[in-house]
Amino acid sequence: MFSTAFLDLPALQGASGTVTLPGSKSISNRVLLLSALCQGTTVVHDLLDSDDTQVMLAALRHLGCGVDVQGTTVTINGLGGRAWPTEAIEFFMGNAGTAMRPLTAALAVQGGDFTLKGVPRMHERPIGDLVDALRELGCTIDYLGNTGYPPLRIGQPQLQLDKPIPVRGDVSSQFLTALLMALPLAATDRAITIEVIGELISKPYIEITLNLLARYGIQVERQGWEKFVIPAGSRYQSPGTIHVEADASSASYFIALGAIAKGDGIRIQGVGADSIQGDIRFMDAAAQMGANIISGPNWLEIQRGAWPLKGITLDCNHIPDAAMTLAVMALYADGPTTLRNIASWRVKETDRIAAMATESRKLGATVEEGPDWITIHPLPQGQWQRASIHTYDDHRVAMCFSLAAFNADQLPVRIEDPKCVAKTFPDYFEALFSVAHTSAHNIPVICIDGPTASGKGTLASRVAAALGYHYLDSGALYRVTAYAALQAGLTLEAADEAKIAELARRLPVRFEGEQVLLSNVDVTDAIRCEQGGMNASKVSVLPAVREALVDLQHSFQRLPGLLADGRDMGTVIFPNAPLKVFLTASAAQRAERRHKQLISKGFSANIDALRADLEARDARDTSRSVAPLKPAQDALQLDNSSLTIEASVEQVMVWWQSRQVFG
Ligand code: DC
Repeated sequence: MFSTAFLDLPALQGASGTVTLPGSKSISNRVLLLSALCQGTTVVHDLLDSDDTQVMLAALRHLGCGVDVQGTTVTINGLGGRAWPTEAIEFFMGNAGTAMRPLTAALAVQGGDFTLKGVPRMHERPIGDLVDALRELGCTIDYLGNTGYPPLRIGQPQLQLDKPIPVRGDVSSQFLTALLMALPLAATDRAITIEVIGELISKPYIEITLNLLARYGIQVERQGWEKFVIPAGSRYQSPGTIHVEADASSASYFIALGAIAKGDGIRIQGVGADSIQGDIRFMDAAAQMGANIISGPNWLEIQRGAWPLKGITLDCNHIPDAAMTLAVMALYADGPTTLRNIASWRVKETDRIAAMATESRKLGATVEEGPDWITIHPLPQGQWQRASIHTYDDHRVAMCFSLAAFNADQLPVRIEDPKCVAKTFPDYFEALFSVAHTSAHNIPVICIDGPTASGKGTLASRVAAALGYHYLDSGALYRVTAYAALQAGLTLEAADEAKIAELARRLPVRFEGEQVLLSNVDVTDAIRCEQGGMNASKVSVLPAVREALVDLQHSFQRLPGLLADGRDMGTVIFPNAPLKVFLTASAAQRAERRHKQLISKGFSANIDALRADLEARDARDTSRSVAPLKPAQDALQLDNSSLTIEASVEQVMVWWQSRQVFG
């Protein structure tokens, strides 16, 4: 997951390959609650691991439910038949609507002393219609803040289930889902009827609910979309084992990707055209815009068809979440696209109509909006603008606008707060980068070099972390090469140059965080010692060895970008890098730092000797004939003698931002 403040997506040019999608959020949280309301044990496979499911799992644990998480398989030991908690419990629901609504209903029908709170945005998301319905049937619920909104306090109910229970269907279908999942708890000796007031929106989500209720032994009878009857004698029964489909809404980004990007097509694994999720119908809308899509039981394959895409006008009531993706596809169309009947967008994680309009305009688009519709005009070449996309803590805004990186003007796109995708798809950007491609000159490289002990390694890895970029420690490659050569019984002299180069060309090296692995063996300590540095310095003056490591070093230049640390990064390996930094510090300072470092590792050391050693090494490094230590001509000098590491990172970030200006 990218936890950086922002993520700069380089201009992308194509995409091909397979993505395996995480489990559906809607199915995951329903299955968790249903499993918790059952008697006995349910093993849930392919559960989504996300903020929303974490919120639900935490709440279920709080209630005393048995929860055992093993990767994406979760075993739930249900509460059915067990004592219901009598002590006061406070639940923190974050911004997870799919946990808040159904849990409120289930808790209110069972009764207890419960408080449900969330993040500030959750306290702005309406829940009054659900509370009204629950009060109508005798539940005790109080508002702790504004009337109609969380936080809520739940007490003991006096259920009156004889007359039909009215619930509004035109604000959020989650209210009806919540009642449908809660009321079987009270239907043991009588049938319960729910009547929907107003036109029911998002019907496909109700289909998911009914489908899953059936898997848990509850056969709801329905008359159209107006009346739902839970038969007398209903009782939750665990299905034993259940598999969660991949998220059809998440699939929309990769369906769109296949429709937009040049390449051999995209295959999506985990969900197919026969999915029980309504958002799968997004594929029809995408096909209408021009995508070529084929599907099997558990997969989809998408290729670019019509190009530019075709602008459409569509009633999106049946695909409210996935429809946001159409808004970004619309930027690549031949005419305007109008999405209608999307009033529910206004009460989601953020006001999504406003968000999509505002952010599309930043990219240069012309957008019109109304209370329940939006029209997006295409953006022709020459009119795209570099934009920093605000994401409103809304995963879908972030994922949608990543697709703007395919713009015809080949401009990068900044996504603010990229970690908001964790709500449903924590590894979204990793999945995108695994199939998207672009030419090397679009993938930024920042080079950092400097004399030994200047702190360039620390600086480079900190800047890499702040930008979400890959990190190449080129010195480690020379260290590992020397280590492998010695292991192979070679000397580190010119006599063995060809053999060492041969080794270097096929170096089975892998970096995992701080660890360096050679043929899967951890060699970190073996190469990070003083001797390791000396050995590296010997092999690094052999021209054939330097040549042999060039391809390996280039292979680190991957999306979304690279921090390259070492001697010739800015001069030989990445001469076109848009930012090169030459880090220096006085010999006295460097000696002091190295001294501290050695002492902290338990070695004895002498500052004066260290300083003399560093000065001798500087002299050797700058005067050597092969790859001498010298700043690239266009490098910016940073003397960090009196700077903290944070201040140095800040300076490099400021330089970088001044070269990457986003509107
Ligand atoms: O950065 P370091 O201390 O890990 O580097 C080890 C040796 O390798 C040092 O003598 C410099 C040399 N080196 C090089 O010649 N070219 C590079 N790109 C990186 C390091």
